[in-house]
Amino acid sequence: MPSEIEKKIESLREQIREHDYKYYVLTEPTISDEEYDKLVKDLEKLEAEHPELITPDSPTQRVGKDLTKDFKPVKHKIPMLSLANTYNEEELYDFDRRIKEALPEGEKVEYIVEFKIDGASVSLNYVNGLLKTAATRGDGIVGEEITNNVRTIRTIPLRLKKANNLPYKLNDIEVRGEIFMNIKDFERLNEEREKNGEKLFANPRNSAAGTLKLQDPQVVAKRPLNNFMYMLISPGDELRSQQENLELLKKLGFKVNDNYRKCAGMDEVIKVCEEFEAMRDSLEYEIDGAVIKVNSIKQQNILGSIAKSPRWAVAFKFKAKQAFTTIKEIVWQVGRTGSVTPVAELEPVFLAGSTISRATLHNIDEIKRKDIREGDKVVIEKGGDVIPKIVAVVLSERNKESKPVEPPDVCPVCASPLFNPPDEVALYCENPECPAQIKRRFEHFSSRTAMDIEGLGEALIDLLVEKGLLKTYADIYHLKEKRDELINIERLGEKSVDNLLNAIEESKKKPFDKVLFALGIRYVGEGVAKKLAEHFRSIDELMKASEEELMEVYEIGESIAKSVKLFFGKKENLEIIKLLEKAGLNFKLEKPKESTPGDNFFSGKTFVLTGKLNNFTREDAKDKITALGGIITSSVSKNTDYVVAGEKAGSKLVKAKKLGVNVIDENELIKLFNNPSKE
Ligand code: IVH
Repeated sequence: MPSEIEKKIESLREQIREHDYKYYVLTEPTISDEEYDKLVKDLEKLEAEHPELITPDSPTQRVGKDLTKDFKPVKHKIPMLSLANTYNEEELYDFDRRIKEALPEGEKVEYIVEFKIDGASVSLNYVNGLLKTAATRGDGIVGEEITNNVRTIRTIPLRLKKANNLPYKLNDIEVRGEIFMNIKDFERLNEEREKNGEKLFANPRNSAAGTLKLQDPQVVAKRPLNNFMYMLISPGDELRSQQENLELLKKLGFKVNDNYRKCAGMDEVIKVCEEFEAMRDSLEYEIDGAVIKVNSIKQQNILGSIAKSPRWAVAFKFKAKQAFTTIKEIVWQVGRTGSVTPVAELEPVFLAGSTISRATLHNIDEIKRKDIREGDKVVIEKGGDVIPKIVAVVLSERNKESKPVEPPDVCPVCASPLFNPPDEVALYCENPECPAQIKRRFEHFSSRTAMDIEGLGEALIDLLVEKGLLKTYADIYHLKEKRDELINIERLGEKSVDNLLNAIEESKKKPFDKVLFALGIRYVGEGVAKKLAEHFRSIDELMKASEEELMEVYEIGESIAKSVKLFFGKKENLEIIKLLEKAGLNFKLEKPKESTPGDNFFSGKTFVLTGKLNNFTREDAKDKITALGGIITSSVSKNTDYVVAGEKAGSKLVKAKKLGVNVIDENELIKLFNNPSKE
């Protein structure tokens, strides 16, 4: 029997939950702030007197004090797929046709059209009504656990709302949706960050995704994260339709976007897509398209999915947003590899969630092809998260006196002569000591996707390089010995120096693949670094690898292999690596090789894909094989277990036959995917 105190506590919690729901989700509060605060104070008081009665779903327990050191990997029970994209009516009619073909003849199909919210997707698991875990999408198979951060979002229930007369058990459910930031909130956050000298977020989506990965839930709690949920999975129930699921999610206390429409056919869907596109600019948040889903869950199950995306849903992507502006100046920028690229400095203009003041022009050929000149009025475009580009020049408004752009002969920063490699349009400054290159390398090293050293941004790097405090990456890890000197630098207070030094210490925990990416080896981007790290597992093994061995890694081609060899062939690079190792950075993968998901046909076997596949993209097939524990390599050798030969397979197939390697076709591969446990 619950005691009087327990009853009182539970009643207060119920009242607070209900008012939270009305205030945050419905935005229709029914009591004053004072009345609400009183309820919270009463609850806090009782909980302080009876700490043994505190439960994790209490509204007082949203914001934890503990920092999340590492975001633990969580394997999604059901992979979080992505959507195939469509861009026009024809592609939508194709989608409709494919669905009709896959369903029993004559069956009617209803569609639900929803906003495609531009945020970060999240998966929430509720067991017996309580929020257990929250995870990011990750690669769709394994995400990262962000429960403590998600708990701080007041519009996400810690306990499902009690709903009467539901025909479902819902005892172990997964709710998926999008976490995002309203455009105004994103701008306010960036203004504040600018004032504090912090790095700005590029767009609302990045600011939401970045916030979800903060270590301190108290900071997350202060950020204005918003969300809409759009998917309910309940393996213990026979759910009926997407429309019913959306309504169910609302009843359970979630925020669901009300702008969804049920359509009887593709003609209607297309009208709704147009209607949504017209609404785009008047919304408080960003949408980048519409999502079209087959309404019936039974039909969804018949349709199933191929590799990375379901057959029962598709995204309709809106046209990239465009704006007019003027080119103030064309400047030449020196990158970390010495590449000298033209950049257009623009009259600032607001476009798709952020103010744009620069656009890349790629190279002189691009400038000539589009005949872009200083002073021109231009159309700029931003599609997805790419850097804005100049689409066209408004020639009718060109100043008669303007002249075509001429590329520079010398580096705009260090004045050394520029080099134009044969077969390339790019220009390079070959002076490794060029201050611009050095600064760009440090910026890359400390950037969010590399070592993620908060506080070590462009301005501070410029200053520290000029003061001679930073010459090589290893110097970053010796800054702590120069704390006093740093504090004395104008505009660097004690607190910001300590924050910086902490961030530097924290960066030592970054895994090997991030360190490898941070080193700035030409052609070794984030993805390549990950592949190399996973394959070789330590810098020593990577350094030992021959060009051929490097090329055995799936998707590593000759230019990457050559560039890696060149990098490790230089004494100065080896010295820096030694110093960084001494400083405590990770130069090996800590975890043992990911254990495979049970022993199955694919576990530990080596596959080579060749020829054209009809049911998957190469990337999809590769992901599936790797997820099942197989290994992908690019070239056929006697160590290859299977060659998957698609249409028009050429030399690799010939080689496989010559070496006596097993060859399977796409249909056999699909059978194995469907039943991987069988030999
Ligand atoms: S459904 C298998 N509905 O778009 C179904 N996704 O590439 C996949 N998204 O990763 C999700 N709004 O992050 C769905 N109303 C909506 C959505 C939506 C945004 C995102 C989601 C997903 C990506 C699809």
